[in-house]
Amino acid sequence: MRTLDEIVERLAEGKYCREELLRLLTEADEQVRQRLYERAQAAREKVFGRGVYVRALVEVTSRCRGGCYYCGLRAENLRAHRYELSAEEILASCRVAYSAGFRTFVLQGGEVGDRAEMVADVVRKLKASYPDAAVTLSLGEQPKEVYELWRRAGADRYLLRHESATEEHYAKLHPARQPWSRRRECIAALQTLGYQTGVGMMIGSPGQTVEHLVNDMEYMLSVQPAMVGMGPFMPQSDTPMGGFKKGSVELTLMMMAVVRLLMPKVLMPATTALASAEESGRLRGIQAGANVVMPNVTPQDYRAAYAIYDNKKSLGSESMEGLDQLATELATIGYHIDFSRGDKPL
Ligand code: 5AD
Repeated sequence: MRTLDEIVERLAEGKYCREELLRLLTEADEQVRQRLYERAQAAREKVFGRGVYVRALVEVTSRCRGGCYYCGLRAENLRAHRYELSAEEILASCRVAYSAGFRTFVLQGGEVGDRAEMVADVVRKLKASYPDAAVTLSLGEQPKEVYELWRRAGADRYLLRHESATEEHYAKLHPARQPWSRRRECIAALQTLGYQTGVGMMIGSPGQTVEHLVNDMEYMLSVQPAMVGMGPFMPQSDTPMGGFKKGSVELTLMMMAVVRLLMPKVLMPATTALASAEESGRLRGIQAGANVVMPNVTPQDYRAAYAIYDNKKSLGSESMEGLDQLATELATIGYHIDFSRGDKPL
């Protein structure tokens, strides 16, 4: 039987084995983890150097029809503050972000069914005003026609985490009106339409086992997404899952490192959840293979309302105002901001 160190070396050669990944995630000690992170960092530097892509994140609405049991924006949460940015407010946020140097705008929001035309219009305007910038949408499950409308309007990328590749686990996280099969169909549709597609999941969500994470890894290997977003589960007190404990930062970092080794070219953020879970989370994420950060550029008055989990960071180096701070922090580990569009390399 291989040692854990040997398993890490095999992953670093891009070799995947289900049983070995299970053992690594279950048994790795501090020293094995460090080795894994070093290998992931090397893999990342080989493809992307020491640059970190930045994406301007605009949280366009906190309205949502979804019922995800973990998320503070779920429709059933009557305590959530609901807001909606106007087209003008979204465009203004992007204009400021563009001036600050951003060349990707991410329009993220709760899932709504009544703004498809408005979003298409905003995308068209952004692509006309800033032809050298990419537009990423993250607006949940939509009919294929809507994804097509937005793609035709010029959207380049779409983030829709698969949340869990294991149907029984997915069903524990979501109400029956959100079947696992539909999520998978949406992701397939996005890929067919030519979006650079992002998937991902929380680490340590209620009911999740290491087997589930390995299933997630296998799903991602089969889908070959352009982007993978992973962060620890963070309890939100106004949700049915508010009483569960937060996900492990170490397990999150290990999964990030494994994704980097098995999919070296993937775009992978050090997520806000990771930065919110632990002070050093963002930098540790980069040292485990992440190559993207997504500073918040939402107008400040709205940020607190986008409470998908408790204590979510939206200021400091998680924000556009903190871009200098981010640059300073990155410099302490020998990294720098890369302001280019940052598409997935071919
Ligand atoms: N903790 C961590 N991540 C969360 N998300 C939603 N709620 C939480 C939470 N409580 C993640 C989900 C979703 C994305 C918008 O944020 O994975 O896809």
